Amino acid sequence: MARHPVSKPAANRPGAGRLVVVSNRVALPKEARAGGLAAAMQNALSETGGLWFGWSGRIATAEARELREERDGNIDYALLDLTRAEYDAYYLGFANRTLWPLLHFQPNLIDYHRAQHAVYMEVNRLFARRLAPLLRPDDRVWVHDYHLIPLAAELRRLGVDAPIGFFLHVPLPPAQLLNTLPGHESLFSGFGAYDLVGLQTRDDLRALHDYLREECGARIERDGRVHMRDGRDFYSATFPISIDTERVAKQAAIAARSAASERLRASLENRELAIGIDRLDYSKGLPRRFEAFGRFLSEHPHWKSRVSFLQIAPPSREDVPEYRELRTRLERLAGGINGRYAEPDWVPIRYVNRSFNQSTLAGFCRMAKLALVTPLRDGMNLVAKEYVAAQSAQEPGVLVLSHFAGSASELEGALRINPYDIDELVAAIERGLTMPLPERRERWRSMFEYLQRHDITAWRRDFLAALDRSRASPPNASAARLRDGADTQRDAAPRDALS
Ligand code: G6P
Repeated sequence: MARHPVSKPAANRPGAGRLVVVSNRVALPKEARAGGLAAAMQNALSETGGLWFGWSGRIATAEARELREERDGNIDYALLDLTRAEYDAYYLGFANRTLWPLLHFQPNLIDYHRAQHAVYMEVNRLFARRLAPLLRPDDRVWVHDYHLIPLAAELRRLGVDAPIGFFLHVPLPPAQLLNTLPGHESLFSGFGAYDLVGLQTRDDLRALHDYLREECGARIERDGRVHMRDGRDFYSATFPISIDTERVAKQAAIAARSAASERLRASLENRELAIGIDRLDYSKGLPRRFEAFGRFLSEHPHWKSRVSFLQIAPPSREDVPEYRELRTRLERLAGGINGRYAEPDWVPIRYVNRSFNQSTLAGFCRMAKLALVTPLRDGMNLVAKEYVAAQSAQEPGVLVLSHFAGSASELEGALRINPYDIDELVAAIERGLTMPLPERRERWRSMFEYLQRHDITAWRRDFLAALDRSRASPPNASAARLRDGADTQRDAAPRDALS
């Protein structure tokens, strides 16, 4: 087997070592990439510097495939092309037509094929083979999301001994759903090759522990240490991802006076603005949101011509049939609602299928009296956090937020709703648009202060500190403690570990 440069454990050297981020998507500088993951990692890496490894976004033949290396500021990028067959089977297929619906509690949308599953494993092997030679002693590797669950096991097979952490950006459903996936045990036992597995919420962590206990016979300590049957062990904890709160707040204040914001403001002609910003994805609950807005206008007709709903929905994964169907459905719904309620000088739903840069969106958010963040399931939903950060302290707007977004457990000042209940959604729209200023300020302040403390920097530091700690107490010592029945609580336990 080829020997690759391997790193020594980062034990006792917290903070040491270059950060190597691996994700399917890489956001190159100045690229407006839809999706929370890319924006968050761009932000985290710009603070620490390091290497970002992932798919180039390009398709090439296996012979012509390149590993393109680029540098921008303190970030090195290593970008690998995929073949058409890999793109189809790994990205469109297993990642986005099997894992995505499974992890978003939509088993009815799963389209599983063994052959695609095999290509998913092959692409993980390929990523490992191309990444391993780039690793230096002392690197810390941070792998992201459901595309790359088996990556650590593949890196270990190549002799990589670096600390490797994994963060799942999407939800993790209960064991009874996870075990519907053919071959689930071999996929999810791959977590055992990491040193740390991070999840967004306590529900996700509980699901992981239940699954590993029930399906893999794992033992889990109170501090989140998981002992797999094969002797491997790792830490697990929650790390709710966040935003650069101060930056978004500043951006929004400036962008509210930008030409784009001025044009939007002028077009509103003193009407209120409600806003939604989502990738065009069936997990986001867009059809029910549109229906709720239509029903709101029908039940509260005095609001006609007094509020406009701007839904920004950049198309996503357009080669996946479910996404194309959703697009058609939303076009029909928006057209129907607009046809029914519009006036010659007013359209209720402004439906825009393109992406905007973060600062333009921050300016739009600041102008909106109401944000509708109503996913059926969402790992975190950073739009909810960005909307809060973008508000003015004097005139903050109201956030309507689904219970099923990870951010709902943190943003207690939001009007939290069940997105399956259109009546509840209609009532929340009405309540938000009529909420008195003192209540709006109070709700907003608690959320904004929370986000100042729990920002993207805190998220990155917490995760990397936990990764360093996971190596500070070698697995064997911990296993021995377990064997001897010693109290296994650690001083420096990761946050929110659950048993
Ligand atoms: C979600 C996923 C990310 C993904 C993003 C955009 O946020 O958690 O892993 O990158 O959607 O989706 P795409 O398929 O365009 O990369």
